[in-house]
Amino acid sequence: MSQHIHTTKDGSSTLFSEKFDQYYHNPNGAASESLYVFFEQSGLFKSLEKADSLTVLEIGFGTGLNFLLLAEHLKQNHILTSVDFYSVEAFPIGKETASGINFTDHISDPEITDSLPQIFDSLKPGMNTFQPFEHLELTLHLFNGFFEEFNPSNLTVDFIFHDAFSPEVNAELWKDETFSKLAGYSHENTILTTYCAASKARAAMCVAGWYVAKARGALGKREMTIASRSEKKLKDFKRLNESRLSERYLKGDFD
Ligand SMILES: C[S@@+](CC[C@H](N)C(=O)[O-])C[C@H]1O[C@@H](n2cnc3c(N)ncnc32)[C@H](O)[C@@H]1O
Repeated sequence: MSQHIHTTKDGSSTLFSEKFDQYYHNPNGAASESLYVFFEQSGLFKSLEKADSLTVLEIGFGTGLNFLLLAEHLKQNHILTSVDFYSVEAFPIGKETASGINFTDHISDPEITDSLPQIFDSLKPGMNTFQPFEHLELTLHLFNGFFEEFNPSNLTVDFIFHDAFSPEVNAELWKDETFSKLAGYSHENTILTTYCAASKARAAMCVAGWYVAKARGALGKREMTIASRSEKKLKDFKRLNESRLSERYLKGDFD
């Protein structure tokens, strides 16, 4: 599959997908948006200060940027928390594309940036497990296949990074069935974040039983979305009207 490398405005690379006709990240700053949406607004950076172990599930491994940002944060801050990072990718990039990606303005450690081509080079269909970094308790569980086929037993996660392409081009990952499946991997305090602010996607979360709130978006975007199975976890954010959104979704108002 064809992807072209571009440099975003914060110096980090992104790809353009011909298949989905979309950039993998915000052209105003790939790394900046990821850090804001998935690590800061979600509370993950804060949780890493206190937790002994954490589990993350990402939808769409893409360039691996989120995984590498996590590794860099753990290493730079000497955090010994044990982290299991699950991710799902149906259309993995090739080793050559991975070698051309440049995140060095945000990820300075060569052990971390150099791991990417090796990960893509050794990827097999189905579940792959990597422990690429010598001094980190960080395990990558990368499912090479469609999210629809992802079926791990006994998976419960603390954070969900919903990082698919937008609902217009990647609709299957924004349906209520998707968010119900994600609810099945969640506990009461699990936090789901996404850059997406589309009403239909938010309504699909509500139908699947998530409480949903909005936060200011990254890099001048008006909004992003944050969801949890617990109302308490969203107390610092502006909640949406879940029953109204569910009703409208089920009536077909967003079709
Ligand atoms: C926006 S990109 C992800 C960006 C990524 N998190 C990163 O940091 O580079 C969305 C990814 O989802 C993948 N994808 C799209 N539909 C999928 C599906 N049904 N199952 C699994 N992966 C899918 C795409 O191939 C793409 O890599």
